[in-house]
Amino acid sequence: MKRALEQLGLRALRQIDPEKAHGLALRALRSGLAASAGPISTPRLRTQIAGLDVPNPIGLAAGFDKNAEAIAPLSRAGFGFLEVGAATPLPQPGNPKPRLFRLREDAAAINRFGFNNDGMEAIGRRLAAAHASIPLGINLGANKTSQDRAADFAQVMAHLRGHVDFATVNVSSPNTEKLRDLQGPAALAALLDGVMQVRGNTPVFLKIAPDLNASEIADIAAVAREAKVDAIIATNTTLSRDGLQSRHAHQAGGLSGQPLFDRSTRVLAQLSEQTDIPLIGVGGVGSAEQAYAKICAGASAVQLYTALVYGGLSLVQDIALGLDRLLKRDGFASVQEAVGSRKADWL
Ligand code: FNR
Repeated sequence: MKRALEQLGLRALRQIDPEKAHGLALRALRSGLAASAGPISTPRLRTQIAGLDVPNPIGLAAGFDKNAEAIAPLSRAGFGFLEVGAATPLPQPGNPKPRLFRLREDAAAINRFGFNNDGMEAIGRRLAAAHASIPLGINLGANKTSQDRAADFAQVMAHLRGHVDFATVNVSSPNTEKLRDLQGPAALAALLDGVMQVRGNTPVFLKIAPDLNASEIADIAAVAREAKVDAIIATNTTLSRDGLQSRHAHQAGGLSGQPLFDRSTRVLAQLSEQTDIPLIGVGGVGSAEQAYAKICAGASAVQLYTALVYGGLSLVQDIALGLDRLLKRDGFASVQEAVGSRKADWL
């Protein structure tokens, strides 16, 4: 019954402007109108990401709950962990609308939001009140008009570290001009140093772009190792537009969803060759098979966003339980045993 309602709701939401639809979906979540699978866990699914215990390895990717408004209902949706944000020091409106496009024929989306968010003060108050029942992370961003973007990351880290289980340095959003330049080795090392100095005991993750060549990936792995980053999230959205069908294909912004799956999984496998740092695979996960493929390519856990737009939140429990069946089928007693087991397929 709840699923039938969810499908009806999704169909209705698809008729309206995507950003409005997302706002309505968040409002529905807050008022309890959503799939509530509860925490999903089995002995096989229970695992660790950089020392954090998670009931299952399926996480919510950053950008879905930018302002940390729906943590309680999201933590009951079946995820093993959540990442909210991005949060910047000051509130900012982001880019002009429209700035989110559905590419239905491609099971994809393009967004150029540009870190619209309520700012770290408001987000901090919500995080402090949230009481998530699963590990909760914050995605760190920089203000568009900031004179010192690297310092913004440290500032948000210092302000929010007491309220989260991890924080992600996001230098891979394509929608803030020149932000991705901070992925270069010298800039990245300095930025991470600033964040590490104020992190207290909070684990720091680094999120990277999928549009990097082998030597850029190797450089990032070396800087991350040196900085003692706790995990790397691969990847953010892509600037590539290869093979798209939809009429929105040429909108500016970052592409997410199915067309990102192969590209982001290849980056993940390459990273996994280069480093022992735990990896989180994100990009185009929409089924248990795809979550499993990322784990076998080297991910300790995965995250998703765009598939939820098409499949609804009930997809989360389907993926978690489906993953349990796939692990069992292949004789793995735990997620951990499967990590990297088919890396070579992606290299
Ligand atoms: C995102 N993503 C994102 N990532 C991030 O690190 N900080 C952010 O603020 C956002 N915001 C955001 C908004 C929207 C509308 C989308 C679709 C995506 C990227 C997201 O977390 C993820 O890395 C990519 O979307 C790839 O995963 P999926 O969507 O293919 O599962």
